[in-house]
Amino acid sequence: MLVRIRPEDAQIGMFIHAFDGSWFDHPFWRRHFRVETAEQLRRIRLADIDALVIDADRSLVPVGEARVADAAAREVPTPVRAKPGGHGSRSRPAVPFGPPQPEERDVPRGRRGYAAECRRARRAIERTREGVADMFAAARLGRAVDTRRMAKLARAIGASIERDAKALINLVRLKEKDEYTYLHSVAVCALMTNFARHLGLEEQEVEDLGLAGLLHDVGKVAVADAVLNKPGRLSQAEMRSVRSHPVAGHALLAASPGVPEAALELCLRHHEKVDGSGYPGRLAGVALSLAARMGAICDVYDAVTSNRPYKDAWSPCEALTAMHGWAGHFDPVLLDRFADSLGIFPVGTLVRLSTGELGLVAGSAGETGEDVVVRAFFDCATLTETEPVDRVIAPSAEHPRITGRDSPTFWRFPDWEAMRVRILAASEAGPAAAA
Ligand SMILES: [Fe+2]
Repeated sequence: MLVRIRPEDAQIGMFIHAFDGSWFDHPFWRRHFRVETAEQLRRIRLADIDALVIDADRSLVPVGEARVADAAAREVPTPVRAKPGGHGSRSRPAVPFGPPQPEERDVPRGRRGYAAECRRARRAIERTREGVADMFAAARLGRAVDTRRMAKLARAIGASIERDAKALINLVRLKEKDEYTYLHSVAVCALMTNFARHLGLEEQEVEDLGLAGLLHDVGKVAVADAVLNKPGRLSQAEMRSVRSHPVAGHALLAASPGVPEAALELCLRHHEKVDGSGYPGRLAGVALSLAARMGAICDVYDAVTSNRPYKDAWSPCEALTAMHGWAGHFDPVLLDRFADSLGIFPVGTLVRLSTGELGLVAGSAGETGEDVVVRAFFDCATLTETEPVDRVIAPSAEHPRITGRDSPTFWRFPDWEAMRVRILAASEAGPAAAA
């Protein structure tokens, strides 16, 4: 049986099935594990999360004695219609995952240490950028990749991500146009690490995929800078040159000592597409490894959210919205998991907020476009549809924040598509700071 408890009620011996909220807000790489040490327990209790989901059957202690919010306690009242056109009234069964309880919403939870981690992340980015520049310089001279040095740098990026993923990922997105190539490698390392952890992969796999991100574009040493940075349309010969970089990079890495298989794979396959229209192998669907499918997403996401010589950056929300619409390019299930890993979602996605509201992602905001506008329209505590109001979600702010994607099926909204269109088309009440 799965039960939901508050972090402060966790005990050694409990089996964690899931954390309620974004990966960013809890300090563990894995989602499923048994709490075995006092240190794990301390980190869980201090975590910036609303709740834990415990698997009572796999726990070594009776979960019932830990003030469990059991199904009966979370049975919720019948939804209320706020206005014509709202969702209908109907009774609901008891559910194992209920809406946040009022006392949970009152707990102050912030983005403590975000500014401090930004300072540390800046140093890690700079050191890693220098390492990547050195690697490219050595590769131009035909020298092997210093895998040990690059793995150490990738681990430093991983450590920053573990402390506060949004700090480093937001910083590395802001590149000057002339430093794109090196910082793109740092960014893909960070995104791959974060994504791999979100998928619950083993620690060694996470490290290998992070290193793979750092090395994936080394074959670009075989392409002239004038071609890589050309603002206009590429000629056929230039296109062939650009498209040679996965094979060139793979050959270089294969000749370097200690390069993990995931890095060889990502280097060779990060421009493949799930419909078989990519390069160099035109591999499709299940023929593409997990590393290749993850890499394709991270590579494109960073490319479109970075300033390039020939275009300005898209905001994270715009990028995910566009990528969602490119049928056949990415593994759609993994693309959703990637969005979850960032806590940023395409326009129109139903999300739950730390205010206890449901909302639709409506766009991006802020100078750098990293803030997200969520149009809140439903109070989970009272099950009441409310007048739509825009909440601005900023990574550096305490409240409000997105705790995760939600399901219209769970809430039993009738004719959800029509309701979604109506809410998105509603005139805004104006950006509002949540209470
Ligand atoms: Fe590439």
